[in-house]
Amino acid sequence: MAKQPKASCPVVAVLNMKGGVGKTTISAHVFRHLYSHIRKRVLLVDFDPQFNLTQTVISQANYEKLKAESRTIFSVMESAPASSIFTVTKNPGPPPSLSEVSVKLRHFSNTSPEINLLLVPGDFDIVKYSMIADGSVLSPVKDRFLKFIANCKQERDLICIDCNPSSSFMTLCALEAATHILVPVRPDRYSMLGLKILNNFVQGLPQLIKKPELIVVLNGVKTSGYDASVENALRSDPDFGPQTLANSLYISKVLEASVGYTGFATDKRGQAWRVTPRISLIVNELQQALGL
Ligand SMILES: Nc1ncnc2c1ncn2[C@@H]1O[C@H](COP(=O)(O)OP(=O)(O)OP(=O)(O)O)[C@@H](O)[C@H]1O
Ligand SMILES: [Mg+2]
Repeated sequence: MAKQPKASCPVVAVLNMKGGVGKTTISAHVFRHLYSHIRKRVLLVDFDPQFNLTQTVISQANYEKLKAESRTIFSVMESAPASSIFTVTKNPGPPPSLSEVSVKLRHFSNTSPEINLLLVPGDFDIVKYSMIADGSVLSPVKDRFLKFIANCKQERDLICIDCNPSSSFMTLCALEAATHILVPVRPDRYSMLGLKILNNFVQGLPQLIKKPELIVVLNGVKTSGYDASVENALRSDPDFGPQTLANSLYISKVLEASVGYTGFATDKRGQAWRVTPRISLIVNELQQALGL
């Protein structure tokens, strides 16, 4: 039988310029569950200098080993180690292969070995890109990142990029790579405005010829005493209502970042049942929205 061409790989930028809305929580726990559900080749990219996604799932000791091996996002942008915090390599050359910079987080014992969940760990060294004003200096770095993601699309079925909260060079890189933007919003009075600002920013970016598709997910919904006014405004908005997932993510202790646990919420022994059914509903919707 003739080999079928590979279905296109969605690249989901989990993005909101607002901090603390749940970008990392969703990149980790929802995408880990999506991976188990679809049983495909999934890649997580920690694209935030705070590298909370990496800290969520990898212990400090293991991270130090990976950093020493230059197995981080910095090597995607430039050849590691970083020469200086204020200079950028002029001709950074081709990007590394995915296997050189990723770490395997999960795999199934009964599927082919490439069906796995990989992470490109984060790195504080990429913070320098938010301190350099001259875009032309950064242009080769962006090209290298975009080439890396384009290469990854050939060998993965889904890519999730956990973005940093500022509207920085990194945001531009992620937006140019993205086919979808997953926007977590908290049900607070500023979130509608934040969503409008983000959407205007994306629509106005001349370099985004094909605009990524917006998907909104409410995060941090209270299970009791919930004031639904923001949610109602969001759902009845002609632009954003249809883009908003029907299922929201509730506030849960199991999803809270805690010093005592490194790993995914849906793997947490004795606790996972508190969040897994709700995450499953979101995963089903995401699978549909991403055509997986
Ligand atoms: N549904 C939830 N239930 C409980 N805690 C949550 C939930 N969502 C997020 N949190 C907690 O809120 C804090 C911020 O979440 P998170 O780090 O995911 O946000 P973020 O958008 O990635 O933040 P940043 O903008 O700093 O990258 C974390 O301590 C996280 O554990
Ligand atoms: Mg984050």
